[in-house]
Amino acid sequence: MVQSVHVSLGERSYEVEIGPGLIDQAGARIARFLHRPRVAVVSDETVAGLHLEALRAGLAAEGIEMVALALPPGEATKGWPQFSRTVEWLLDQKVERKDVVVAFGGGVIGDLAGFAAAVLRRGVRFVQIPTSLLAQVDSSVGGKTGINAPQGKNLIGAFHQPTHVLADTALLGSLTARDFLAGYGEVVKYGLLGDAAFFAWLEEHGPELAAGDMAARVEAVRRSVQMKADIVARDETEQGDRALLNLGHTFCHALEAATGYSQRLLHGEGVAIGCALAFELSARMGLCSQECPSRVRAHLREMGMKTDLADIEGGLPPAKHLLELMGQDKKVVDGRLRFILARDIGDAFVTADVGKDVVLSVLSDALARRQDRCASM
Ligand code: GLY
Repeated sequence: MVQSVHVSLGERSYEVEIGPGLIDQAGARIARFLHRPRVAVVSDETVAGLHLEALRAGLAAEGIEMVALALPPGEATKGWPQFSRTVEWLLDQKVERKDVVVAFGGGVIGDLAGFAAAVLRRGVRFVQIPTSLLAQVDSSVGGKTGINAPQGKNLIGAFHQPTHVLADTALLGSLTARDFLAGYGEVVKYGLLGDAAFFAWLEEHGPELAAGDMAARVEAVRRSVQMKADIVARDETEQGDRALLNLGHTFCHALEAATGYSQRLLHGEGVAIGCALAFELSARMGLCSQECPSRVRAHLREMGMKTDLADIEGGLPPAKHLLELMGQDKKVVDGRLRFILARDIGDAFVTADVGKDVVLSVLSDALARRQDRCASM
């Protein structure tokens, strides 16, 4: 059942292997990258508690020794204090220039450990072993590494491509339903931005995928990673097309900021709501039919996901304030917000040509639907 996707970046090319049980074979799958039979693994306490011994055994089967650091779980880890702790730990472990660091966890660990590998001794190689759906389909592929600054998310970092990625889909079984569905928000994003047939496939197979069907999970991760690999190969450092991967993210970042980056809204949930709003905005600008946002929402609803602002618990600021929060987005160029809009499902494009009034009207209407829902409860 193991599938492989090639990320074509010249001498920095690598494979993403996808399938169940890969950590049990981790030694055999990464031995060829090792200069000596020893790796330094960076993980978090939750992932380490669940899966570190299986990884240790998978490496030991090929005679590879492992030292491990388990950081506290959660987004707060992705800052200077845990970053410098990790770099100093790697130095204490005498990780050398030719050694390999392993990032074993979700997006926070992949980003932080990848950035540590990028700066350690001016750059050592690293292998990503992503354990969340979000990390398997998005953050472990493409070489964006980094940490958060007090001024905003992911503002400190480097492009540093992994040497290899092992996406063990059996690990997805230990995610909570909420975390799994949050990652599914990123999967849906791929269909919406560039592959209508994939979105139609998700409409048909999404429920079985969520219920645990392994073949469906492998296929969804493979198609997502393939699309990301193709985009990254065209535009590694986001000068153009790579921005398409941010479909839904301009709305999402404003909503995450408005909810304090808390458990009220997980990143992937914000992406799903943001995708629905981006299609709503596209329809309102006459770029796509009204059927498109309705179809997006119908699928998200069928999957039991958050689809609209009405699904976010607690207070939200007025539309004007949400628009201001969008202005903090990294995609602002020369003071102009760039949006990812769509002509149809599977046909997204990047534009700065969006009037503030139409964005405000989309947000105001979404907030009004929220009021209506509260009034009727
Ligand atoms: N997560 C968006 C990107 O990798 O470009």
